[in-house]
Amino acid sequence: MKKTLASKKFVVAVVGATGAVGAEFIDLLGLNGISADRVRLFASERSVGKAILVGGQPVMVESLKPDCFRGIGIVFFSAGKGIAKAWAPQAIEAGAWVVDNSSAFRMESAVPLIIPEVNPDALDQCKGPSIVAVPNCSTIVALVAATPLHRVAKVRRMTVATYQAASGAGAAAMRELESQAQAFVEKSPMRTEIFGRQYLFNCFSHNSAIGPEGYNEEESKLLYETRKIWSDASVRITATCIRVPVLRAHCEAIGLEFETPLSQARAREILGAAEGLEVVDDRINNRFPEPLHAAGRDPVLVGRIRADWSLPPGMGIQMFVAGDQIRIGAALTGWRIAELIAARMTH
Ligand SMILES: NC(=O)c1ccc[n+]([C@@H]2O[C@H](COP(=O)([O-])OP(=O)(O)OC[C@H]3O[C@@H](n4cnc5c(N)ncnc54)[C@H](OP(=O)(O)O)[C@@H]3O)[C@@H](O)[C@H]2O)c1
Repeated sequence: MKKTLASKKFVVAVVGATGAVGAEFIDLLGLNGISADRVRLFASERSVGKAILVGGQPVMVESLKPDCFRGIGIVFFSAGKGIAKAWAPQAIEAGAWVVDNSSAFRMESAVPLIIPEVNPDALDQCKGPSIVAVPNCSTIVALVAATPLHRVAKVRRMTVATYQAASGAGAAAMRELESQAQAFVEKSPMRTEIFGRQYLFNCFSHNSAIGPEGYNEEESKLLYETRKIWSDASVRITATCIRVPVLRAHCEAIGLEFETPLSQARAREILGAAEGLEVVDDRINNRFPEPLHAAGRDPVLVGRIRADWSLPPGMGIQMFVAGDQIRIGAALTGWRIAELIAARMTH
């Protein structure tokens, strides 16, 4: 019998259960038939006692306490870097696996950084319950689309421009964008607590800190995480990450330069057959990936597949992708990592 999370008996926990990514984990628990009696949900003190439905049954939210992870098999962390740093080691000590969505451990050499469609074998380095890191959402969306071409023609350089949704900054950012739309209609002052500016009808550089070389953290993550996931320290990557006033699902314009030639037709064929992708490339009707069509869905949409005119024939492809970054860019990738873990468990 195939070993899946559903076929196991152990308890599954979500830390950050009341957040944007947490809500997707809860949806996945229900969709995969994990019953409420196998689920523990954690959030901050503010949410303690709140009941959240898992597969139609209420589960009470708890706060994190010493020993709270005893008896749990896998803990999904989606509550930020600080919480993961403070609590993931305690989960490991209690004998649980940790699948962490934050950036706390991604670049640690002892921690595998996994996109199941790309580098599932990175899990081999874990000999028992360990921390496994989920990459940044922009990295996941880009690499689900770029890796099938990389496997065939080897990418030597990748350029990325992102168009990132409010949901990437959490549930509160989504609420703020909605409230700005309402304020606009009502001609009342807009709330600007999350980004410190009007977001509606605007776009601006990603809100992460800018480093000494002028790249923000989101852009640096695309470089360093891709090098780790592809086990390729020489791949050259540059990115510009921008917030756009979309509620949910990131888009990215991706340019790939290859080591060996790959025709546009062959690239389209490879992308059409690749795991986790859906080609949306209707040139006649001008229909290509859009965030509204990716939102709430599992696949990364890929289109605008064309030869890069700025490179010699066959040496580069340009494409445009849209992926729901709280789903494939966070919870679903975390879930699929947990399925890889479950498949390797002996008990
Ligand atoms: N949003 C995305 O697209 C995305 C993508 C990839 C990775 N991530 C990562 O996933 C994590 C969560 O992101 P999010 O967007 O879901 O954020 P969010 O909507 O702001 O949710 C944050 C969650 O963390 C909980 N939390 C805060 N303080 C806590 C504490 N002291 N103890 C326990 N729980 C606490 C919150 O609980 P309360 O409701 O009780 O405050 C809430 O459940 C972050 O590390 C983020 O970088 C997010």
